[in-house]
Amino acid sequence: MMIIAIDGPAGSGKGTIAKEIALKYNLAHLETGLLYRALAFKVFENKIELENRTQIIKVAATITLDDLENVKLRSEEIGNLASKVATFPEVRQALLEFQRNFANSPPPSFNGAVLDGRDIGTFVCPQANIKLYITAQLEVRAERRLKELQNRGIESIYTAVIQNMRDRDLRDASRQQAPLKIAKDAHIIDTSSLSFDDMLKQSIAVIEQHLKK
Ligand code: DC
Repeated sequence: MMIIAIDGPAGSGKGTIAKEIALKYNLAHLETGLLYRALAFKVFENKIELENRTQIIKVAATITLDDLENVKLRSEEIGNLASKVATFPEVRQALLEFQRNFANSPPPSFNGAVLDGRDIGTFVCPQANIKLYITAQLEVRAERRLKELQNRGIESIYTAVIQNMRDRDLRDASRQQAPLKIAKDAHIIDTSSLSFDDMLKQSIAVIEQHLKK
């Protein structure tokens, strides 16, 4: 059973890479950001105040795979709120078991699991067979996010997107509990000047090298 951990900041390309790797190696894929987004969505819909931590923690314990299907989870607003609720240690604890279960017991038809997020290699699955840390310059990531939003028909401006991303990077990297960090044994791939095909090729090369061992 193979576990692959893919971490990195927003807009780095980690989600796309994880999806392709899951297909190529027949791995179950969990985009862990969606767990935090699903929680943020429920907090937003039920108008729960961020100060009401007890309630937020309760809701965190109710998140299921079905909650992750909602397309509304992909908005910038939900991403920001997700980053905020993700700073609560009790929330991270509540979602930890879900992620570890997924990694350790994917459906039997799969060869293992690939999880992408911020703290997979460092915290959720420190025992992962392969760890990738996908990154790119802030400007490049903001440009990608802007295109993605525009493709989905969401009017956005570059300065707002980049500011938003800067804030989120800072919050994700500076929180006390399991911050965004490069695992010691992670392979770093900087995708700033890579095409989609090239980032995928580099990631696969790392995996193939590992499988040969
Ligand atoms: O990857 P994403 O943009 O969908 O993640 C949304 C937020 O969720 C991110 O800003 C921080 C949080 N998150 C986290 O704290 N740990 C993870 N493993 C994944 C996401």
